[in-house]
Amino acid sequence: MPAWLSDAVFYEIYPQSFNDTNGDGIGDIEGIIEKLDYVKELGCNAIWLNPIYDSPFKDAGYDVRDYKKVAERYGTNDDLVRLFDEAHKKDIKILLDLVPGHTSEEHEWFKKSCEADRNEFSDRYIWTDSAFCGIGGHPYIGGEAEREGCYMLNFFKCQPALNYGVLNKTEKWQLTPDHPSCIETREALKDIMRFWLDKGCDGFRVDMADSLVKEDDDDKSATGAIWTDIRKMMDRDYPDAALISEWCNPQCALKYGFHADFYLDHHGNGYNVLVRDCETEGGDHSYFKKDGGDDPERFLSDYLPRYEGSRKYGYISFITCNHDTPRVTKALDISEIKLAYAFFFTMPGVPFLYYGDEIGMKYLENVRTKEGGYQRTGSRSPMQWDKDQKNFGFSDAEADKLYIPMDSAADAPSVTEAKNDPDSIYYTVKSLIDLRHTYEDLQADASFKKVYSKKGERILVYRRGDLLLAVNPGASEVHVKTGDFEGNIMDVIAGDMIYGIGTTELTSGELVLGAQSFAVFK
Ligand code: GLC
Ligand code: CA
Repeated sequence: MPAWLSDAVFYEIYPQSFNDTNGDGIGDIEGIIEKLDYVKELGCNAIWLNPIYDSPFKDAGYDVRDYKKVAERYGTNDDLVRLFDEAHKKDIKILLDLVPGHTSEEHEWFKKSCEADRNEFSDRYIWTDSAFCGIGGHPYIGGEAEREGCYMLNFFKCQPALNYGVLNKTEKWQLTPDHPSCIETREALKDIMRFWLDKGCDGFRVDMADSLVKEDDDDKSATGAIWTDIRKMMDRDYPDAALISEWCNPQCALKYGFHADFYLDHHGNGYNVLVRDCETEGGDHSYFKKDGGDDPERFLSDYLPRYEGSRKYGYISFITCNHDTPRVTKALDISEIKLAYAFFFTMPGVPFLYYGDEIGMKYLENVRTKEGGYQRTGSRSPMQWDKDQKNFGFSDAEADKLYIPMDSAADAPSVTEAKNDPDSIYYTVKSLIDLRHTYEDLQADASFKKVYSKKGERILVYRRGDLLLAVNPGASEVHVKTGDFEGNIMDVIAGDMIYGIGTTELTSGELVLGAQSFAVFK
């Protein structure tokens, strides 16, 4: 386990929307280098960069055409290496996005794979043996290649699935994971990883990490075996590099070799019911909703098994949002979000902050889809640096040349305004990250223990190591007798509050939590 992860706080940068330095309307690597001090000042010590590879951009870069070449619109390979170096000088780690499950249909491998004559890449993708026979249950394309056969897709039409094999082979054309061609796919993936790790990147966020071997069972043992093998390479040759999965099943992902796994927004799961429970009938019952919010039990019943079942292998990553998810501002107001962030940044594991969430950027409802973004496009609009500058300081380009239009709302937040307002969410985020860096008990490894929660009650009291934390997202003040606390802390007395939002008090025998409050006691 890379030691730096235990106190890592990540900042996710969507490169095309962060900072444009050459006026073409698209963010670039130079723009990220320019803002490293900003990231550092906020307290983040690691960055996850969404794909920066050469791509036709039909899925915003998740359709990779060349894994070893930076897309021209972002700069050059040398620029990226300079970003690694500059970041390292400031003690900031950089994770790249690894897309192992599919390439772009314009990747050289795929073009070769489409050829009628057999060649080195014929089996690099999953092909049937007839242009008229599909692939049961999986999306596929037929009639596009000279070669006889249909090929499997992993996501959009532009993303053919790479061939890591099929677990329970039932068709003649299927290859098992131990087939030499499938092993070659895996080795090609390792080669890409080594290419960037050797240049100084600090690891990878792994896209659709569970999608390698096509298998019908949930335990994903064959896909897992590939990651276990890759982890061996990392432990041996790059012990300080991190591997973080987009999987949302930490019991699986961490056991197979990932250091951390994202807690993603899946309808009804523990993360979803905290801040994004808006699809449930009868309105939004998200725990952090002041009015109408639920008790913490739904969260705990989903989270605790994940946590207990994975903590000995690695970390769970809470996110404020990501490039696939509506920003939390869509459903929660700023006072609700401050409490949610207080919770996320004091939980075990490795937290991720999505660019712009530190100033409460909005989810843009009516933007036209960009590069396969569709409803996700609203969370990918350009960073708002300074309201008084053209395009909020994001770019000098004319407004119609911007990657995605700027937020045009009168109350669109910006970094400069947020920094001028001591009450802004920016300072909440900054102080929470600072608190986390100060107390080891708030970092990745210290244990989480529920101390008090009850069906129908809004508050949650919990422990991280020796610290006692309490949150009340509701509109009314709550009193709890410390005698009702679980575990061996009947004797909690007048703890020192080291952090607070709203009014809270812990006296011997009673904890009082004002409306919308959060506190950490020592
Ligand atoms: C992941 C990415 C998403 C992308 C998809 C296909 O879910 O986060 O943005 O479209 O994989 O690569
Ligand atoms: Ca640019």
